[in-house]
Amino acid sequence: MNNQTITAQIPRCFAPLLTSEKRIKFYYGGRGGGKSYAFADSLLLKGRMEKLLIACLREVQDSIKDSVYRLLCDRIAFYQMKDYKILETRIENKITGTKFIFKGLRDQDVQKIKSLEGVDIAWIEEGQTITKKSWDILSPTIRKDGSEIWISMNRNEENDDLWSILAANPDDRTLVVKVNYNDNPFCPKELKLQAQKCMNESPDDYAHIWLGQPISQSASKLISSADVRKAFDAKISYSDSPLVVGLDIARFGDDNTVFCFRRGRYCQRFEVLKKQDIVSIANYCQGIIQAHNPVRVFLDVGGIGAGVYDILYSRGFRHIIRAINFGAKAILEDRYVNRRAEMWDNARHWLTQDLPVQIPRDDDLLNDLCSVNKKYDSLGRLLLESKDEIKKRLGRSPDKADAFVLTFAEPVYDVGKTTTYGNGQVVLEDMFANQFQESKW
Ligand SMILES: Nc1ncnc2c1ncn2[C@@H]1O[C@H](COP(=O)(O)OP(=O)(O)OP(=O)(O)O)[C@@H](O)[C@H]1O
Ligand SMILES: [Mg+2]
Repeated sequence: MNNQTITAQIPRCFAPLLTSEKRIKFYYGGRGGGKSYAFADSLLLKGRMEKLLIACLREVQDSIKDSVYRLLCDRIAFYQMKDYKILETRIENKITGTKFIFKGLRDQDVQKIKSLEGVDIAWIEEGQTITKKSWDILSPTIRKDGSEIWISMNRNEENDDLWSILAANPDDRTLVVKVNYNDNPFCPKELKLQAQKCMNESPDDYAHIWLGQPISQSASKLISSADVRKAFDAKISYSDSPLVVGLDIARFGDDNTVFCFRRGRYCQRFEVLKKQDIVSIANYCQGIIQAHNPVRVFLDVGGIGAGVYDILYSRGFRHIIRAINFGAKAILEDRYVNRRAEMWDNARHWLTQDLPVQIPRDDDLLNDLCSVNKKYDSLGRLLLESKDEIKKRLGRSPDKADAFVLTFAEPVYDVGKTTTYGNGQVVLEDMFANQFQESKW
């Protein structure tokens, strides 16, 4: 039994750490929000009430100095908690038997991490640095009944792994709370002054550093990650709409050639070819046409794609293939600077429509689709940043997204197929004939 009563000073927004039963407690925000202090204080308090094994984790921990060990020691000293014993690599409660241990995740393989199986609470500090690989090993390891995972992080980029996995679409076992320095009643004056200075000098930096927004702001992005994720989650598994194939052909040695298969609101899958010459790509494409019978294959004919088009054309597939040049004039010239901007924007419309749409869950596709910044020319027409700029940022070319947007190059109808609507029979093509320009894909 612990006789020493401590009145902890924990800001109100952190109360759920002690009261909520959610397995995952995810706190994020900018500098000075009080996350580290509140987590430390709450865990120290919990550890005085019952016996807990508490693992303090981060992606990399070369020595215990990198961990929250120092902070926990400081808070123990601040509250004068006499029941905690500070050891070289652990902290223990002499009365309840609670133990704090400290580990880096990067160096843990599945075997080593087994020592975490009895953990009651895992505190992941600097969650923005945790990789999907680390999370995939850790998450099933924290398996004790009633165990919890507490995460504190300052968001780095739009698609930080833990953010994407846990907080972007939280499930009902996950609590997500944003806290910033202005929510922290203990925020030192000096920090507030620094925040103020940053706000005046650089609003973008301020939004990221002090308000916890990811670095690349969604305002300039054509496609938001939320819309892409929604399409990952939708549950369409079948469509009898005509098959359209987008074919993005490698321009340079390091790019991939990618086929995208889409039927109406259901983008089914991708096929990726590495390092192929034009004849092999044409052969592969011919195989796809013969096996799957698409109504259209839209090919990117910049670079070597023109050769692939010529081969398929000469082999008698001219009624199916269409040559698309990303740099050519748009169909709706008054709205888009070129075909590329038009196709990407069509894809955005498709993703944001009211009816559900489905795309394969794929991290590369998510990053590709969210990588493109939009601009407008002097006539107010949409323009996208250049492929080179995107390549520089992504470290590769957004091949999957290009194959996907190619499926939106032109509206496609199930030509000649008769379908019954209401009392009469209508050929789909006729029904849409007058709506070509405003097609909803
Ligand atoms: N309970 C508290 N009592 C006293 N001071 C506090 C308390 N919580 C926070 N502070 C003060 O606020 C500052 C910021 O808190 P903390 O380090 O926990 O923020 P954070 O959200 O982890 O942000 P970051 O570490 O990224 O700056 C601390 O350095 C400390 O001075
Ligand atoms: Mg901190």
